[in-house]
Amino acid sequence: MADDTRAVAVVTGANRGIGRQVAAQLAAEGHRTVLAVRNVDAGHVAARDLTGDVAVAPLDVADPDSVTRFAGWLRQHHGRVDVLVNNAAVNYDTWQDPLGADLTQVRDTLEVNTLGAWRVAQAVAPLMRHPAPGRRIVNVSSESGSLTSMGAATPAYAMSKAALNALTRLLAAQLAPDGILVNSVCPGWVATDMGGPAAPRTIAEGAASVLWAVRIPDDGPTGGFFRDGHPLPW
Ligand SMILES: NC(=O)c1ccc[n+]([C@@H]2O[C@H](COP(=O)([O-])OP(=O)(O)OC[C@H]3O[C@@H](n4cnc5c(N)ncnc54)[C@H](OP(=O)(O)O)[C@@H]3O)[C@@H](O)[C@H]2O)c1
Repeated sequence: MADDTRAVAVVTGANRGIGRQVAAQLAAEGHRTVLAVRNVDAGHVAARDLTGDVAVAPLDVADPDSVTRFAGWLRQHHGRVDVLVNNAAVNYDTWQDPLGADLTQVRDTLEVNTLGAWRVAQAVAPLMRHPAPGRRIVNVSSESGSLTSMGAATPAYAMSKAALNALTRLLAAQLAPDGILVNSVCPGWVATDMGGPAAPRTIAEGAASVLWAVRIPDDGPTGGFFRDGHPLPW
């Protein structure tokens, strides 16, 4: 309800993988938690075993109309947002190299991984401007987007995450006067559908790296890039 003053957390792409685990944890810790998902049926299945105050709402981050409807839903049902985790992403394109890359695929990847996070931030930030501790935007990025260590691998994905990191800097600067902290986080190589079964990290470990950036104190860092609470080079 809109007059409930408990903190609200929104996690995009929360029906599986790291997003689901982050949402589970935030709900268990007392956030009213919104699983923002493309497929509502999948979202309800994902929410079934979670404890706490959990809601499922439709959101396709690549679709501007869907994002607008989602923001309206948030305004109506919760009236505020305290934590936004931009987690949804696609296309870890291990099969591509920069010169051979399918640019339609690159564009589609940017549409979700970069512009998706941007458009959700644009739609949700107006609901975050109330004075309250603990307001955070966490952009789930990847070391693949680090310019320092970037090679020729996964060009669409790497480009999308480098640009997402730039978005983190931009948003952090604009939202600093409001006390909203904005950071990029790499979860490490995690055994999800995206990371594959050979990945060394569990979903819980990956989610913990993301949750660190939610739990930092109000005088904590903003505009940074971290894994497991340690800075990563841009
Ligand atoms: N796994 C790793 O090793 C690793 C490493 C570094 C960074 N990351 C980052 O961690 C985050 C989570 O990754 P993951 O491994 O958990 O991936 P995942 O298991 O593939 O899950 C991706 C999630 O994003 C959702 N999604 C995709 N496109 C969407 C859209 N247009 N609108 C809304 N939701 C959308 C998916 O929904 P559907 O079920 O509808 O497809 C799914 O819930 C991503 O940002 C990823 O880049 C992962």
